[in-house]
Amino acid sequence: MKSKYVLILICSFLIFSCEIPENTFKPGEVWLDNNGVHINAHGGGILFFNDTYYWFGEHKTEGEAGNKANVGVHCYSSKDLYNWKDEGVALSVSNDSSSLIVKGCIVERPKVIYNTKNKQFVMWFHHELKGKGYDAAMTGVALSDKITGPYNYVKSMNPNKSQWPLNYPDSLKSLSPNLDGFKRWSEEWNKEMINGAILKRDFERGQMARDMTLFVDDDGKAYHIHSSEENTTLHIAELTDDYLDFTGKYTRVLINKSNEAPAIFKKGEKYFMITSGLSGWKPNAARSAVADHPLGPWKELGNPCRGTEEEVTKTFYSQSTFVLPVQGKQDTYIFMADRWTPENAIDGRYIWLPIEFENNKPIIKWQDEWKM
Ligand code: DGJ
Repeated sequence: MKSKYVLILICSFLIFSCEIPENTFKPGEVWLDNNGVHINAHGGGILFFNDTYYWFGEHKTEGEAGNKANVGVHCYSSKDLYNWKDEGVALSVSNDSSSLIVKGCIVERPKVIYNTKNKQFVMWFHHELKGKGYDAAMTGVALSDKITGPYNYVKSMNPNKSQWPLNYPDSLKSLSPNLDGFKRWSEEWNKEMINGAILKRDFERGQMARDMTLFVDDDGKAYHIHSSEENTTLHIAELTDDYLDFTGKYTRVLINKSNEAPAIFKKGEKYFMITSGLSGWKPNAARSAVADHPLGPWKELGNPCRGTEEEVTKTFYSQSTFVLPVQGKQDTYIFMADRWTPENAIDGRYIWLPIEFENNKPIIKWQDEWKM
């Protein structure tokens, strides 16, 4: 009798101490890595390389100050997208107060792409300078020969200095749009914004770049997509062949429509974009758009979310960060979003949901638990 209890005890111990691999996504729950720690890769993106997925994201720390870059960009790897191995900090912030990437600055929405020509991994991220809030509106670049890093910080910039967008009419170039005295969102203010009041203000110093993502097309051309013009208009900018700079070729997209959190993917010959509106860390309704070329023109397709009013107007309490094409599964895409917890940044959750298509439009529905 006694030995039966001992056997039950041993079996229960073995069952509970063995790691059971995950085989489903559970949006909004705590996602543990191989060390049993909640994954710390917020505002992230994924690069598939050598049969492995690498997830890069903001390493948050506890409390409200945890939204600042106190550590850097964290990397995880996975073969199946369900189970993630901690690969450590890929890009570290600096302790040198003269460095632009000093601890306490803001590093958001990091994305990594691979340059096949130079065999280098290039990371771009939204970069704000320490103590300057969100005023600098820069984009930063870091570089590594190894996917998991360490990445060396290269530079930060305001893109496309002294360059006109490809779709900015010549007739507007000689005008001097002026917002003075106009109420935000009034008819006159909108007109001046559409005519490029902020674009012109920033023409010489370089454009604003806040929420961002990267997209590499099938021909190897890479694009940097960012919220610009005080977050009212997206800019889509071509990168140089080494992916380390801007070519100066860019377009204004969804002009004065206030989009952030852009995520781009390609299905067949069409390019799709999912974005959010502007409400800080609070969720709002997602938007979607379609184009025949990354530089546009982009056509709005409306809110891709389906479900209850609350789910649709709040994007399931999340904000887009990336759309992942699943390897080896045709037309299978994962919508990746963040459920921010600004009061305790490190506790932010991941909302990954499958993208379906209805009438050639991306559609996202809530799932408590799902698999590919
Ligand atoms: C919304 C952006 O999408 C986030 O990346 C972050 O910048 C917050 N705003 C800050 O309020």
